[in-house]
Amino acid sequence: MLSLINSTNHMSLRCISRLKMEKLISSWVNNQSVPESYIFPLEKRPSDVAVPTSNKIPVVDLGGVHCRGCDQAQVINQILRASEEFGFFQLVNHGVPEKTIHDVMSVAEEFFEMPVEERAKLYSDDRNQIVRVNTSIDYNNEDVHFWRENLRHPCHPLEKFVHLWPEKPSRYRDVIGTYSVEVRGLALRILELICEGLGLERDYFSNGLGSTQLMSINHYPKCPDPTLTLGLPKHCDPNVITLLLQGEVCGLQVFKDGEWMAVEALPNAFVVNLGQQMQIISNGQLKSVEHRVVTNSTASRTTIVTFIHPDNGSIIAPASTLVDVRSPPLYRAFQFQDFLSAHFEKSGDKESTLELFKL
Ligand code: OGA
Ligand code: NI
Repeated sequence: MLSLINSTNHMSLRCISRLKMEKLISSWVNNQSVPESYIFPLEKRPSDVAVPTSNKIPVVDLGGVHCRGCDQAQVINQILRASEEFGFFQLVNHGVPEKTIHDVMSVAEEFFEMPVEERAKLYSDDRNQIVRVNTSIDYNNEDVHFWRENLRHPCHPLEKFVHLWPEKPSRYRDVIGTYSVEVRGLALRILELICEGLGLERDYFSNGLGSTQLMSINHYPKCPDPTLTLGLPKHCDPNVITLLLQGEVCGLQVFKDGEWMAVEALPNAFVVNLGQQMQIISNGQLKSVEHRVVTNSTASRTTIVTFIHPDNGSIIAPASTLVDVRSPPLYRAFQFQDFLSAHFEKSGDKESTLELFKL
């Protein structure tokens, strides 16, 4: 009897892990065309996968901030202008060593090159799972799936989380640990420069507003027909600031003045974009801008995303020094976790989420 129960348990476990594996695109992608459940209706398809690579997204050279006598005010000015107009900029000469960037890209690629069974072990659709692999966005509830696989986990403080991270590839924890400390330093520096530009205290984001750091590694496998699919839908990040390494393969597009523009792949550069909390705290002066990801038939694409978030319990509101009779507050005060719930409920749609927090 016991052995019967054991073998039934065994079978159902095997079944569950097969189901998880089949959700992962990499378990079937090589042997077929795009399955029906990944094909968007005509009006939602990317009408032009190859929009011209734009040179319009500003590139900020951070070299000037490290050297004595260089013009820091000019760098702050560039960051502020880019944040007001585009909500996006690229960062070069940012001080994160090339080797660290190379190592993190290659360990991320190795993770998605491992046999799919390894990733299926970490698969979960539960958002509360601390470390998880998943696919698309909301696999069990969405009409059409997105062409991406994802690994995500918190990074800060390192000693609280590192032992929970994937054990394979064997250098994963080491490489991602080094990277996440470096990238946090850079993110905080950018936040300080933004604060200076806005006239806020330099450490405005250090009391809980910038304390959560999430690593999110996206993998977009080669897609047989990129005109039918999307890697990520049009969305706006719900956090404070995002730093992205997109490697050598383009795919990120930004929605500006009613048109999609592609973000050029610059070697070793970070793509930085402001999350919606930055738009709210700056009382609308800085923009959080919608973006999406298109797929590619000739190369797979792996991106390393660092999200800087407030603590769930943080109170968010327009900064009091940026509000006066001539610029009254546009948003009410709220708890960050309420914003996150609304963001997921509205499937990442910017305007309908923000509407709930407007005055
Ligand atoms: C995101 C995102 C862009 C990319 O993860 O929120 O916008 O190119 N990613 O992977
Ligand atoms: Ni995003």
